[in-house]
Amino acid sequence: MKYFTEENSVEAVNARMGENINPRLATLMTRLVAHLHAFAKEVELSQEEWECGIEFLTRTGQICSPERQEFILLSDTLGLSMLVDQINNRRPAGATENTVFGPFHVVGAPIRKMGDAISLDGKGEICLYEGRILDLQGNPIEGAHIDVWSDNAEGFYDVQQIGIQPRWNNRGVFVTGADGEYQFVGIKPVSYPIPNDGPVGRLLECLERHPFRPAHMHYLITAQGYQKLVTHTFVAADDYLDSDAVFGVKETLIASFEQVDGGNTLWRSQFDFVLSPI
Ligand code: BEZ
Ligand code: FE
Repeated sequence: MKYFTEENSVEAVNARMGENINPRLATLMTRLVAHLHAFAKEVELSQEEWECGIEFLTRTGQICSPERQEFILLSDTLGLSMLVDQINNRRPAGATENTVFGPFHVVGAPIRKMGDAISLDGKGEICLYEGRILDLQGNPIEGAHIDVWSDNAEGFYDVQQIGIQPRWNNRGVFVTGADGEYQFVGIKPVSYPIPNDGPVGRLLECLERHPFRPAHMHYLITAQGYQKLVTHTFVAADDYLDSDAVFGVKETLIASFEQVDGGNTLWRSQFDFVLSPI
C-alpha cells in the first residue's frame, strides 16, 4: 500500500506502526484509529465540524488546572468513566457495586472517632449514617478504613468554597472495630450541578441535558485482603436519580433515609457495605 485513500485509510495509518512496540499499545492504537475513521466516514464529518471538535478539545484542555480536570468531566458526562469503572470492577453477587470517584475526594481527611460529626458548618438537616462493613459471607471486617465526603446543604464541597466552608467540612475517615460497624453524623446531602461553566457545561446545554447529580454520600472503603470499594449511597426519591449527569446511579446503591424524632438528628440512613476479596 503506497498512498492514503479514503478506502484504505485505517490500514494506511496502522501499517506505519513499528514491529517492536508494546503489544497493548498496538492493540489500543489500531482499534482507536479504526473506530475514529469509521466514525468520520459514517457521519461524513465536515471540515467545519472537525474544526469545531478540535476547538472544543482545545478549550477543554485550556480550562484544566491542578484544581479542575475538564477531560475527566467530559468522560463522566459521556458515560465513559462509568463504563471503564464497570469493566474494571466486575464483582460477585452480593458485593457492593462501585460507582464514579468524582473530582472532590481529598487525600488526608482527618481520622475521626466512630460516631463523630463530619458536618462542621452547622448547615443542613442532620443525618445519622450507620451500618456494617462485611465480607461476602456476612462476617464483619475489622480495620476497614471508611473515607466519606459529601456536599454541604448548599450543594458545594468544601474544596469548592475554600475560605467559606470550614476545612474538612463533610469529610472524615472512620476505622471499624471487631464488630465491623460504622456510625457518623453528617447531613442529608442535596443534589448539585457538576461544574458547568466550561466547555463540558456548554456541550450539555447544546444537548439539552441538565448538569445535576442526585444527592449522594461518597465512600472510599479499603481493608487488607479486599478490593478497594469506591461508591456512593444515593438519597431515595431524589428527583435526579433517573437522569444523573454522570450516569453513576445503580439501583443497589439507593439508600433509605428515614425521618427520626429526637434531638438535632432529623434523618437516619442505614447501609451495609460488602467487600470482595482480592
Ligand atoms: C461527584 O460526585 O462528586 C462528581 C462526580 C463526577 C463529576 C463531578 C462530580
Ligand atoms: Fe459528589
